[in-house]
Amino acid sequence: MGKVTITNVFRMFTKEDGTIVHALDNINLDVQNREFICIIGPSGCGKTTLLRILAGLDFPSSGTITLDDVPIKGPGPKRGMVFQEYSLFPWRSVIDNVTFGLEICGTNKKEARHIAMSYLELVGLSKFAKSYPNELSGGMKQRVAIARALVNDPKVLLMDEPFGAVDAQTRNRLQQELLKIWERDKKTVLFITHSVDEAVFLADRVVVFTARPGRIKEIFDINLKRPRDRTSVEANIAREKLLSSLGTEIKKATE
Ligand SMILES: Nc1ncnc2c1ncn2[C@@H]1O[C@H](COP(=O)(O)OP(=O)(O)OP(=O)(O)O)[C@@H](O)[C@H]1O
Ligand SMILES: [Mg+2]
Repeated sequence: MGKVTITNVFRMFTKEDGTIVHALDNINLDVQNREFICIIGPSGCGKTTLLRILAGLDFPSSGTITLDDVPIKGPGPKRGMVFQEYSLFPWRSVIDNVTFGLEICGTNKKEARHIAMSYLELVGLSKFAKSYPNELSGGMKQRVAIARALVNDPKVLLMDEPFGAVDAQTRNRLQQELLKIWERDKKTVLFITHSVDEAVFLADRVVVFTARPGRIKEIFDINLKRPRDRTSVEANIAREKLLSSLGTEIKKATE
C-alpha cells in the first residue's frame, strides 16, 4: 500500500526578525495507492515544505499526515526522497551511495551491494558503480539519486524537482525511465515540478498551488492514455488549462 492522507496541514515559520511566514495554509489532499501526483506552483509557495513534511524531515504547525492511516512521525524506509539539488555523498562511490539506505536498515554488506547493483542496472549505471559523484554528469547523478531512493523498495517516492537541473533531452529520457519504474513497481509518487509539460506527461493528477501562503488552488485530472504523446491535441489542451491556472498564481507571486 501507499495511501497518503493530508488533513488540514498548516506550516508557519518564524524568521529571525520575528516575522511569520505562512508557508502552507490548510492543505487537504488524499493520494491513492499507486497514484502519480505532480505538484506545481509559484516559487516559495510551500511545495518543498510539504514534501519535507511528507518525508518526516519537518513537521506541520498543525494538521496531520498519514501513510496507510499511520501518522508520519519521522523519516522511514517506506518513503524514498529525491531532492532538488544533487544530494549524493561526494566521498562515497556510486554503489556506496546507493547502499546507504540499506546499511541504515542493517542489511549486511554483501546483500546490500547485490541489491544496489540491481537498482544501478535499472537506471542504466551498473558500469559506473565504482565511480565517484564528481565523475558523473548531472543526469547520471540524478539517476544515482533515484536508485538510492528506490533501494529500500519504498511505497512512496517523494521527488522535489528531480530533473530541473538537467538538459531537455536527458530530462525526457529520465521521465520515461521513471514512468517505467513506476509502472513496474506501482509506487505512489509525489513529484514537484515547475514544468507544465512534465506534469502533463507524468501525472494522473496535477495539484496547482496558489502563491504563498500555499493553498491548493485546483486539481486537474490528466486523463490521457499511456504511453503519452506530448504532441497530441489532448496533451496540448491539458497544458493550456494548467498554464492558465498556474500563470495567474505566478503573476500574484511576482507582484
Ligand atoms: N526553515 C525555514 N525557515 C524560515 N522560512 C522558511 C523555512 N523553510 C521554508 N521557508 C519559507 O517558506 C516558504 C516556502 O518555501 P518552500 O521552499 O517550501 O517553497 P517552494 O514552493 O519549494 O519554492 P521553490 O519552487 O522556489 O522551490 C518560503 O517563503 C520560504 O522562505
Ligand atoms: Mg522547492
